[in-house]
Amino acid sequence: MSKISVIDSPWTQEMIEVTSNLYRLGWDERNGGNVSYLLREEEVSPYVDLANVTRTIAIPFDAASLVGKYFIVTGSGKYFKNVAKAPADNLGLIRVTADGSAVELLWGFEDGGVPTSELPSHFMSHISRLTVDPEHRVIMHTHATHLIAMSFTQELDERSFTRKIWQMCSESLVVMPDGIGIIPWLVPGTLEIGKATAEKFKETRLVLWPHHGMYGSGKDMDEVFGLIETAEKSAEIYTYVQAQGGAKQTITDSELVALAASFQVVPKVGYLE
Ligand code: 13P
Ligand code: ZN
Repeated sequence: MSKISVIDSPWTQEMIEVTSNLYRLGWDERNGGNVSYLLREEEVSPYVDLANVTRTIAIPFDAASLVGKYFIVTGSGKYFKNVAKAPADNLGLIRVTADGSAVELLWGFEDGGVPTSELPSHFMSHISRLTVDPEHRVIMHTHATHLIAMSFTQELDERSFTRKIWQMCSESLVVMPDGIGIIPWLVPGTLEIGKATAEKFKETRLVLWPHHGMYGSGKDMDEVFGLIETAEKSAEIYTYVQAQGGAKQTITDSELVALAASFQVVPKVGYLE
């Protein structure tokens, strides 16, 4: 029995929509950025023959705790601007092999592509987030412009960086009470950067890679995209405020405390005075 086209699946459409938006916002130049989306077998099976493995691709780390799991991921070296017009070249549907040492390609990467070079960070981050949030499904990496700029001009201290982001938009604290984790500058694509990112994801849903970009996590595309765009909006406002000569006043800590109480969120302990 022939299956419905993968391109018509809601999860492929969500990948197309989010990569197009990330490109439209100017955050993912060239092949910048990558997205991975954990899928349930029942979401995948109407669209793909689960026994038809096109290729098996080795991965350089042990993904034992993700055995049998399905992900749709962006390809390495692929441009987000091209995903909508050629999803089957730029996206791939993969399943982790029984021994956790490789992924099986079930659809996509039709021009010979492979999953993002950041697969170690994505997989390690999924593992990490699933331990704290069973609903977790999406990891998103993007080169959000103003956040990157702030990583050059501001102290790379999680508390002080988060406070600046919270102070720039009244919504920031409500959206990201867990704040922003920051890792040291590390070589992209390595296991080392994957481990550092995953460690931070145990405590927060946003991790800044200084001088590189942002990592976000969440239970669906909207949650992750919303987190990153709110942080980026705050960073953009911060940039304008500095360009206009610096803040004359800001949202005070007691106002932030009142905001948190009203929206019933718990700000990261120790971040407010
Ligand atoms: P990929 O093209 O391999 O996904 O890499 C892009 C990137 O942003 C690396 O950090
Ligand atoms: Zn990157």
